[in-house]
Amino acid sequence: MDETRAPDPVGLCFAHLSDPHLTTLRGVHWQQLLNKRVLGYLSWLHRRRDEHRSEVLDALLRDLQQVHPEHIVVTGDLTHIGLPSEFTQARAWLERLGSAERVTVVPGNHDAYIRTPWSATFAQWEPYMVSDDRAGTAQQPVFPSLRVRNGVALIGLSSATASAPFFATGSLGLEQRQRLSGILQETGAQGLFRVVLLHHPPRVEDEKWRKRLTDGNDLCSILGRDGAELVLHGHSHRPIESAIPWGERTIPVFGIPSASAIGHKPGRRAQYYLYTVARAGDSWSLDVAVRGYRLDSDDFALQHEYHRSLPVISSTSS
Ligand SMILES: [Fe+2]
Ligand SMILES: [Fe+2]
Repeated sequence: MDETRAPDPVGLCFAHLSDPHLTTLRGVHWQQLLNKRVLGYLSWLHRRRDEHRSEVLDALLRDLQQVHPEHIVVTGDLTHIGLPSEFTQARAWLERLGSAERVTVVPGNHDAYIRTPWSATFAQWEPYMVSDDRAGTAQQPVFPSLRVRNGVALIGLSSATASAPFFATGSLGLEQRQRLSGILQETGAQGLFRVVLLHHPPRVEDEKWRKRLTDGNDLCSILGRDGAELVLHGHSHRPIESAIPWGERTIPVFGIPSASAIGHKPGRRAQYYLYTVARAGDSWSLDVAVRGYRLDSDDFALQHEYHRSLPVISSTSS
């Protein structure tokens, strides 16, 4: 019997969802609401708890079980005000979503609402955030993270920083940007399909000033120099399609609505995107399927599809 096996075809089907804001603040005590958390609690009480609904998330989980992507990425804002008890709720939800091997998380600004010890908060999500070679360790910094799945490099960034009241800004910082540049160069030279994941839109013009990524221009410069095949983000709670110039090419950038939004405002109802990446000779084939929540039938269904073809960049090509 011939024991030589053909190599696995390069490619991956993965889902992107964001901003589930899945926690409830019912039962939270006033003593837990120091500083900016009071404002966040009032926002949840009067607005957010009507918009972010558990029945939408239940429908999302049902749909994901049927579609069964090979991997799921979650780009932040799992909580409302970043309380340790919310991190515990979110960890339980992540376990329903899938194993840490199959689910990749980057944090959002709501998860870092005020400065809180890592051990009480993000440590609970660490298996879902760390790089492949850091699994089982608790070393910091965690970001940028790098997970490689079947020719696709999932590169996670943290833009989650505590900001002043009425601000929802984020930033990466110099050290994270420098490490990102090295990772993009290495994974690009390996000919991998590089997907950059972060919470805030990278382009400052895609978001209000008080909610922007403060070093977004620096990030776009790095991406424009070192390249990437795809950038995915959340934060804006609406669909955003944009692009970042990269030499003579452009990098597609997709932002998506909240995964739990019932959609009181037009264009804000929950969606998630399904990406299918495949290698076809010297090109990457990228299929994008948008699946959205339907209020009448309480389920998710296909709404749009896109197809892109992108050149493969590696050390053997310019
Ligand atoms: Fe959000
Ligand atoms: Fe956000």
